[in-house]
Amino acid sequence: MYDQAEALRQLVKQNTEPQNQKKTKFISVTSGKGGVGKSNFSLNFSLALQRLGMNVLVIDADIGMANIDVLMGMSSRYSLYHLVKNEKTIWDIISVGPEGLHYIAGGSGLLELIRLSDEEINRFGAEILKLQGQYDFIIFDTGAGLSKETTQFITASDETIVVTTPEPTSITDAYALIKMVNSVDSSVKFKIVVNRSGDRAEGERTATNIASATKRFLNIELPSIGYIYDDSHVSKSVKKQVPLLMLFPDCDAANSIKQIAKEYLNLPIESTSTGIKGFLHRLLKRTR
Ligand SMILES: Nc1ncnc2c1ncn2[C@@H]1O[C@H](COP(=O)(O)OP(=O)(O)OP(=O)(O)O)[C@@H](O)[C@H]1O
Ligand SMILES: [Mg+2]
Repeated sequence: MYDQAEALRQLVKQNTEPQNQKKTKFISVTSGKGGVGKSNFSLNFSLALQRLGMNVLVIDADIGMANIDVLMGMSSRYSLYHLVKNEKTIWDIISVGPEGLHYIAGGSGLLELIRLSDEEINRFGAEILKLQGQYDFIIFDTGAGLSKETTQFITASDETIVVTTPEPTSITDAYALIKMVNSVDSSVKFKIVVNRSGDRAEGERTATNIASATKRFLNIELPSIGYIYDDSHVSKSVKKQVPLLMLFPDCDAANSIKQIAKEYLNLPIESTSTGIKGFLHRLLKRTR
């Protein structure tokens, strides 16, 4: 752990040239209904972005469950829990996963009842500031539903990707989540991804239906970033605890995620980031 933390510190030293600093884009990945594929999407989308040359940090923002660790067959010693409890610094808790992917693990199941105080959120923010210039993308894989923490991560992010499946229950829960977040903060920018789609038509139809509802009833634009095939390789990769993109790099679901990542990087400028400072500004605004 010490060596890893030291290596990361060195990395920062080399990269803190103010002029050519990266402007980190913060993305929250969330859903109304649980179990729709947020963690698998967060992990594999991150790997896909990294393969396209981006520097990515994935944060398992589900303090109660260690989703990302489990999907990679890893077991991190430290998690977000140790950071907010002031026991470890950001450098201590960043782990390096397969393909060199940087990530911060979620807590263990025992910590399910822990809720973050404002002071702990501030502590998280102060530590995140140290990542200035390090990453192109910081991606939060949130727990399902709207806890106080999830709402804070969402409203502080530059963009929120809502994951749904084509099932009506998943769609109505996604709609309810968007409505609820919008009532807390109407400036949140949402995108939708349809996971477990039978074919292209179903993926596109699902995205269009939900977007027309958010437009009509909430006046919210909901651009789609694409759809991911329902594919039994996903479950196989979860059981093997090897990320889909590594175990079955050319299966239908992997190809859809790679395509989404490629197109995502071509999105217009207006959807780019406000950087670490913008993220912190919004995060701290919420905890006042
Ligand atoms: N594209 C897909 N095709 C087939 N099965 C999938 C697909 N995506 C996800 N799954 C299945 O759904 C399960 C749940 O996925 P995942 O853990 O990513 O969901 P989640 O939304 O993060 O869940 P939670 O709300 O509990 O955090 C996977 O273990 C896998 O079996
Ligand atoms: Mg999950």
